[in-house]
Amino acid sequence: MSTIIEPHGGELKERLAGAEEAAVIKKESVDYPSWDLTARQICDLEMISVGAFSPLDGFMRKADYESVKNDIRMADGTVWPMPITLDVTEEFAEGIKEGDKVALRDSEGVMIAVIDVENMWTPDKGEEARKIFGTDDVKHPAVNYLFNIAGPVYIGGAVTCVRHVTHYDFGHLRNTPRELRERFKRQGWHNVVAFQTRNPMHRAHQELTFRAAKSSEANLLIHPVVGMTKPGDIDHYSRVRCYEKLITHYPEQTSALSLLPLAMRMGGPREALWHAIIRKNYGCTHFIVGRDHAGPGSDSKGEPFYGPYDAQDLVRQYEEEIGMTMVPFKMVVYVKERAGYMPMDEVEDGHTTMSISGTEFRRRLQEGLDVPEWFSFKGIVEELRKTHPPKIKQGFTVFFTGLSGAGKSTIANALMVKLLELGGRSVTILDGDIVRKNLSSELGFSKEHRDLNISRIGFVASEITKAGGVAICAPIAPYAKTRREVREEISKNGGYLEVYVSTPLEECEARDRKGLYAKARAGTVKEFTGISDPYEAPDNPELNINTLEYSPDEAAQAILLKLEKFGYIA
Ligand code: ADX
Repeated sequence: MSTIIEPHGGELKERLAGAEEAAVIKKESVDYPSWDLTARQICDLEMISVGAFSPLDGFMRKADYESVKNDIRMADGTVWPMPITLDVTEEFAEGIKEGDKVALRDSEGVMIAVIDVENMWTPDKGEEARKIFGTDDVKHPAVNYLFNIAGPVYIGGAVTCVRHVTHYDFGHLRNTPRELRERFKRQGWHNVVAFQTRNPMHRAHQELTFRAAKSSEANLLIHPVVGMTKPGDIDHYSRVRCYEKLITHYPEQTSALSLLPLAMRMGGPREALWHAIIRKNYGCTHFIVGRDHAGPGSDSKGEPFYGPYDAQDLVRQYEEEIGMTMVPFKMVVYVKERAGYMPMDEVEDGHTTMSISGTEFRRRLQEGLDVPEWFSFKGIVEELRKTHPPKIKQGFTVFFTGLSGAGKSTIANALMVKLLELGGRSVTILDGDIVRKNLSSELGFSKEHRDLNISRIGFVASEITKAGGVAICAPIAPYAKTRREVREEISKNGGYLEVYVSTPLEECEARDRKGLYAKARAGTVKEFTGISDPYEAPDNPELNINTLEYSPDEAAQAILLKLEKFGYIA
């Protein structure tokens, strides 16, 4: 019998020290400068540590980086398409030099590895983006990461890990390349076809994998990514529960499920080639590349970044050299007349094809709409509905903004009472004055302090929304940028409704319910919004309420109608 396929570069480059070596390194490292790894760097480090990125022995040196960027090869000629770099801040870089050792720590400050700093350089990020991803449009998630999140200096050199990266979730489904290779050997699996995914799997994916296994006469490894995927994707906890259900529909002796702690870049063609090499390191011989593999969606002009089969074209160029066989698929669709799935290019003329995109599927979950049986399995849709409830069951935030005395608190209280009367969700008021007495008692009214106050309110509201409750916020919130940040944060977790209480300044001042306007005019109260401090009116609030025209009751009613229109209440 043949042996298991060799790792890329011929040797599995595991970088985890044994217990004794680790103890020595830990002792020596007390005086090393420390770098706190970002979430993506931890994923990369784990992949390096277990040998999934073989032949890499650390973060890339400059020569490898340049060569990968220009020629899809390491400096020694080995095919490798993706830069794996350790980016740091300028301040950190100033404190170290080539030849130093740096301790790499996780978010809790635990040392995971040491890097021998061989190279430090400031990359041309524009060039990196264009050469690796074919674009410098920040709508591409990896380009956005490169330009707006990654640090400006790269450090390259070998790493030695002193411990495994810890995961508390799905331990029974996590395997290193060594473990999978041993398992394949034990089970006599020589040809193994890997399926990459970052989405919940539905019937089309099942068909794709069945067909791939049959056509290549190979065992099947479902190998979903649980590191980082595209922002906005369905969380990996929900996905893995779905995969576990789906795997029961596969023949046990010939199929396996294992999780991959990779941080995806959504780099289309280069990413597909990278994925194939990674699977080779895990002992697979074949790799499925379907339609729009690792596609990042559309650019700022609405055009797709890559063609649907560009990834197949690039992998095809290198498959022989890397020793992996690509199993390509045209778009797999449901054919009504056949009551089954098949690739587009096999569909008979005149037959009706049907498909539901990922975006459309998420919309149906959001709206609580039907998902047809031909598209997915009942158990899987049920599982996804639990963590992605329809809007009627989601939490939401109503965020009031407006001048002091505009009527925000009054309307907020009226709204709260009406929502409590309606029932179904807990309701919390984060009124400006109340928050300043509790959450933000030490803050003043400078721009900095006002922003901090609003982001605290936003944070609490976001947590409430995530937990399915209602947060009603009623601060002045004078700055548009901070309001936008709060909106973005909360919208990830549920509904968001901005209500601009636009009662004019003269009216607020005439009412002067707290006597503050008089004091502001007299100069005894400083930094007073509308008098001696700015207020940036919202451009696009969901609702604009001028209390000269609305009673509190009517205002609350208008908000309820909006919430109903958006689907949050019925
Ligand atoms: S990806 O970012 O990991 O590529 P996804 O999980 O949607 O996204 O896809 C996983 C793999 O399945 C990719 O190779 C992709 O091309 C393929 N694929 C997904 N859906 C289809 C489909 N309907 N037809 C053909 N290939 C598909």
